Amino acid sequence: MVKISKKNNHKVLIIDDEKIILDLTSIILKNRGYNVFTAADAHTGIEIIETERPELVLLDYMMPGMDGLTALKEIRGNFPDTYVIMFTGKGSEEIAVELMKAGAYDYILKPFNNQDLADRIENVLRIREMEISNRELLKERERLLNEIEAWNRELEARVQEKTAALRKAQAENVQTEKLATLGYLSAGMAHEIRNPLNSINLFVQLIKNDLVEPEKLEYIDKILKEVDRIDGILRKLLDASKRPRFEIKEVLIDKIIDTALELFSPQIELHKIDVERDYRSIPPAIQADPAEIEQIFTNLFLNSIHEMPNRGTLTVQLEHDGRDIWVRVSDTGKGIPKENIPKIFDPFFTTKSRGTGLGLSVVLRIVKTYKGKIEVEKSDEKGTTFCVKLPMAAS
Ligand SMILES: Nc1ncnc2c1ncn2[C@@H]1O[C@H](COP(=O)(O)OP(=O)(O)OP(=O)(O)O)[C@@H](O)[C@H]1O
Ligand SMILES: [Mg+2]
Repeated sequence: MVKISKKNNHKVLIIDDEKIILDLTSIILKNRGYNVFTAADAHTGIEIIETERPELVLLDYMMPGMDGLTALKEIRGNFPDTYVIMFTGKGSEEIAVELMKAGAYDYILKPFNNQDLADRIENVLRIREMEISNRELLKERERLLNEIEAWNRELEARVQEKTAALRKAQAENVQTEKLATLGYLSAGMAHEIRNPLNSINLFVQLIKNDLVEPEKLEYIDKILKEVDRIDGILRKLLDASKRPRFEIKEVLIDKIIDTALELFSPQIELHKIDVERDYRSIPPAIQADPAEIEQIFTNLFLNSIHEMPNRGTLTVQLEHDGRDIWVRVSDTGKGIPKENIPKIFDPFFTTKSRGTGLGLSVVLRIVKTYKGKIEVEKSDEKGTTFCVKLPMAAS
């Protein structure tokens, strides 16, 4: 229970047109330690409320000028922390009910007894304090709930962010594992297959030397061609697998790109492809194996050119920010279907009848060796952009 201390010096305003009531009530309340204000009419009373903000108003119902009910409504409407006890004459209980409905906290019948007046005042002040502290508690609760909700939202966003990062890291791990398995398998297999393949090649060449029938010569050529194809696949397989880097040199990326583009000039011309070199900033030399770096671009260009059999634009954008080098290779081909994007870096994933599906695995393996990143930055029916990021400091 909230204890009302007289030392609190609660402000009480008495509004009554009868001077005797004002004086009497004033004396009683002052004696009990209240800080008392008086007003002989409602207008003056409301002015005092505005400046003094009393906790309690004792308000007479019957007054000339603004009557008690109107004053009550105004006080309750404008000063919710000021509570009101009404003075009413005997025999006006119905009015009292109306006054309570209009927001009075209690009513006191005139003439009143001193002790009763003091008790009621104390009671209303106690209720007032409880209600106000309740209101504050509710406000605090509301504030805390809002705060918790904001925390929750932030937490949820962070969890989502972390989950996405985790998923990405997992996908990258899976990719790395696939490459490692591929490396392990292919290094062994390629070696084992290449030796007998070499023998086949040699023996077929020997048979060819003694042949004269054109039909059989044609078959032999077909066999040799297929042997060559198998050998090509094995070479790619070996490239795709991990291998120690070699020949680390100063490498100028712009020059490497130029060389790779030069290499494809016959195809570029044949398919009427426009080449745009958008070199925004030329990075200084990095330490790398030039053959490996070139391979990144030859494989990407090869894919792009394949997508533009009849005209198109191949754009190479190059820039650096002092820490990383960014190369974007864009084509105006038909794009990669959305469902294929997660698979294109998988070894052996191909949509081409004569593809091995190793081109992008090799690119990924090299980019990872240099602690870089590669991603499909954009791909739709207007074309595809691969973005390669290579750190300048990687050795
Ligand atoms: N620029 C591109 N536009 C559209 N699709 C592409 C592009 N680059 C790659 N792809 C898709 O990704 C697949 C995998 O590419 P990747 O280079 O690894 O193998 P491939 O080109 O099919 O065969 P390989 O390079 O071994 O001859 C391709 O078959 C193709 O479906
Ligand atoms: Mg390819």
